[in-house]
Amino acid sequence: MKWYPVPGIVLTGEPFIKKVKVSGKGIIIIGYEDKLYALGSTCPHAGAELSGGWCKEGKLICPIHRYSYDLQTGKGSPGQNDYVDSYAVEIRAGEVYVGIETFWDRVFTGK
Ligand code: FES
Repeated sequence: MKWYPVPGIVLTGEPFIKKVKVSGKGIIIIGYEDKLYALGSTCPHAGAELSGGWCKEGKLICPIHRYSYDLQTGKGSPGQNDYVDSYAVEIRAGEVYVGIETFWDRVFTGK
């Protein structure tokens, strides 16, 4: 896994959803109930921008048709049969980092 710093995120404890570009990917960084999450920014249902959504009960809600995705895994709620990509995210010395699996990570883990 390769880790990338994500500048410009100020952690205040307030909930937020911020779209960033990391290694060419559109990713949303989500702060919700004192935890950080990182998901793909495009809704798999019909392509909506998920940074306009909101969080509720551990899920990200798409602003267009209100499909919902688990903040930790990106898995769609029952009946949706879809998912958004999820990424590792952590704080190092006050800065947010996103971890993206490389091609070789997938080869060796079989994901
Ligand atoms: S575009 Fe997101 S639920 Fe339809």
